[in-house]
Amino acid sequence: MTSCCARDYERVFGRKTAARDARRFRRRGLRGSSKAAAELAGDVRGATVLEVGGGVGAIEIALLEHGAKSATNVELAATYEDAARRLLSERDLAARVDRRIGDFVAEADAIPTHDVVLMHRVVCCYPDVEALVGAGAAHARARMVLTYPQERRAIRAAIAAIDAVMRVAGSTFQVYVHPVDRIVAAAHGMQLVERRRSGYVWETAVFATSGR
Ligand SMILES: C[S@@+](CC[C@H](N)C(=O)[O-])C[C@H]1O[C@@H](n2cnc3c(N)ncnc32)[C@H](O)[C@@H]1O
Repeated sequence: MTSCCARDYERVFGRKTAARDARRFRRRGLRGSSKAAAELAGDVRGATVLEVGGGVGAIEIALLEHGAKSATNVELAATYEDAARRLLSERDLAARVDRRIGDFVAEADAIPTHDVVLMHRVVCCYPDVEALVGAGAAHARARMVLTYPQERRAIRAAIAAIDAVMRVAGSTFQVYVHPVDRIVAAAHGMQLVERRRSGYVWETAVFATSGR
């Protein structure tokens, strides 16, 4: 991901978005698909968690508070950092979280494997589904949890409209409804064990390693 594209991610996911996400998490905890993703991570006691595109890190914080040992967050947009670090210090969790800025696909070789890999609403923000989900699967020792938009005509139409506005505005940022078959096929060496819908828009899939 070139720096111009990273800047476009930071325009879409700016400091105001980060502050709003942190405020909502403080006020009401996890809700909807983020709550589902945390539940579907399973029993995380003692586990290491890698959250890709984790934003302010609400899901990994919830998992740490449910007994996960440590977490790594790899996030393209640096705009989340202040809000994320405030959340961590309020909860005395800073020492258990390694926050890194960068494109997970480009940085994958420098990131160790973890027990659980999470990508909540991230696959739809990245053009190369095979590279992103493939790198996620290669980093998961036990489970991978992915949340992405459901394949519905109305959702495709809404996203196409958003993308048209982005293009007119000169942004390289696009939203994608990658076919679920392609997402599943990209999870090399892992088996799909569950799919759960949260409302009309989001679906979460859980993958488990087969003997790795
Ligand atoms: C829709 S936001 C979701 C943030 C958070 N997971 C949530 O659900 O609130 C998508 C995030 O994924 C990040 N992202 C997309 N592709 C990424 C990649 N290849 N590596 C790291 N972060 C990525 C974006 O910067 C953005 O913050």
